[in-house]
Amino acid sequence: MNLLRRPRRLRATPELRALVRETSLGREDFILPLFVSEKVADREAVASMPGVAQLSEKALVEEAKAAHADGVASVILFGIPAVKDERATQAFAEDGVVQRAVRALKKEVPGLVVMTDVCLCEYMSHGHCGVTRFAGDHAHVENDASVELLVKTAVSHAAAGADLVAPSDMMDGRIGAIRAGLDAGGFTETPIMSYAAKFASAFYGPFRDAAESAPKAGDRRSYQMDSANALEALREVELDVAEGADLVMVKPGLAYLDLVWRIKERFGLPTAVYCVSGEYAMIKAAAANGWLDERATVLEMMTGFRRAGADLIVTYWARDLMRWLA
Ligand code: PBG
Repeated sequence: MNLLRRPRRLRATPELRALVRETSLGREDFILPLFVSEKVADREAVASMPGVAQLSEKALVEEAKAAHADGVASVILFGIPAVKDERATQAFAEDGVVQRAVRALKKEVPGLVVMTDVCLCEYMSHGHCGVTRFAGDHAHVENDASVELLVKTAVSHAAAGADLVAPSDMMDGRIGAIRAGLDAGGFTETPIMSYAAKFASAFYGPFRDAAESAPKAGDRRSYQMDSANALEALREVELDVAEGADLVMVKPGLAYLDLVWRIKERFGLPTAVYCVSGEYAMIKAAAANGWLDERATVLEMMTGFRRAGADLIVTYWARDLMRWLA
């Protein structure tokens, strides 16, 4: 054939492919989620998330130290309190599980960026992300009352020394309220990473085992977004940016890559994607069956997130990735 263009020329050898590769994975691109629990003595494996465990404060420090030594630059903390109630009191308690964990990590693992997930679901006896009134099976989550508690929670995390707070609740107006609360508390330098486009998703199933945060009645569809809506996601991000978000996140990842792309293009802020528990569980399960090559699949998926525009990826594979990318 007489072809002027032969795209395969640039694919002929590993060296040529490396030369023209458009997307790279950096070891600092990954955020490791960690679960700290007041109820476990050491570590309690999460059955639906092989390799993930609920950790005592001591085990958390060990895990974070080891992860940091491997090259993990940042972690995001989720707390499981011993006591839950209908006001999420332990979410903003000065000696709450996350507040104590943050202090321990800042002391014991210098240089590790410690982020906190700001939400109420793990601390509410009913498992919803805010103050909730029940009418039979219907759960009404009150926006403004919830925002007040979220502000207290975020400020308490910053006071404990968190490097960044990440609200994941999807209440309206919470980014502006948290920004104002942080500023009033003297935490003008604490950045907010907003879970700005967070969808009501079936992919969160395993996480709710890990965080013990499944709603006892009803679902999250009245506050998390409908998976069919992209324009609404752009409006959500626009609001959070106007309210002061420093970074924005899309969650889940795989099924929402169009939004990573559109949000990055439109707003140009540092953009994160959360590769959630269900995405982890399905590849783990397939790999355990010998149906997928875990390393190759995960690297391809992470490259896809980066190619779609994600600067940062929250992933339970963060430690494995340090090894794979070393
Ligand atoms: C808290 C929160 C959830 C996740 C992160 N923060 C669960 C939910 O909204 O139900 C899910 C993370 C994952 O599935 O890995 N609201």
